[in-house]
Amino acid sequence: MNMIVAADKNWGIGKDGQLLTHLSGDLKYFKEKTMGKVVVMGRKTLESLPGGRPLPGRINVVLTADPQYEKEGCIIVRSIDELRSKLSEYPCDSVMLIGGATLYNLFMEECRRLFITKIYAEFEADSFIKNADALSRFKVVHQSEVYEEHGIKYQFFEYEREK
Ligand SMILES: NC(=O)c1ccc[n+]([C@@H]2O[C@H](COP(=O)([O-])OP(=O)(O)OC[C@H]3O[C@@H](n4cnc5c(N)ncnc54)[C@H](OP(=O)(O)O)[C@@H]3O)[C@@H](O)[C@H]2O)c1
Repeated sequence: MNMIVAADKNWGIGKDGQLLTHLSGDLKYFKEKTMGKVVVMGRKTLESLPGGRPLPGRINVVLTADPQYEKEGCIIVRSIDELRSKLSEYPCDSVMLIGGATLYNLFMEECRRLFITKIYAEFEADSFIKNADALSRFKVVHQSEVYEEHGIKYQFFEYEREK
């Protein structure tokens, strides 16, 4: 499994169930990296998507502990074991973890590649991920140029886990 996330200088990723900021270049990058793939998310991240609906053109796998929860167009899994079992049906590289904080922090170290958009700003946040630069098994294998939108600079990084 790989993961994709946008984090600010403090590794903040969200506030009140929403993203910290909307950068059109980052949303485009997210779409490119996830289209046609299996996207894995927590129930709260699904609810934060437009209309609370699954992402089109992707297989949406959603983790919840709620035994009643159903959502049209989503594969619902109700435990980590069930999630692992479902994901084992797909090639590792075709699965992308897309949030939120709970799931990132559960699975980050298991991921093979981390696609991290570093947003060079500080926002008020209530959801954070681990500092990828402090995870010694991960090395940066690619970094883009620095982009800027509405005065906010950001840069795409790709980390790879050592075997
Ligand atoms: N910056 C980014 O790239 C990015 C990307 C995605 C999300 N986000 C942000 O992240 C924040 C949401 O993160 P979050 O941690 O609150 O929510 P989340 O990880 O999206 O979802 C948490 C939910 O997942 C389910 N869950 C988690 N662990 C489980 C387990 N072991 N077994 C069964 N179900 C489990 C539970 O659902 P139930 O309560 O239904 O049981 C839990 O409430 C939002 O602010 C969002 O905007 C940011």
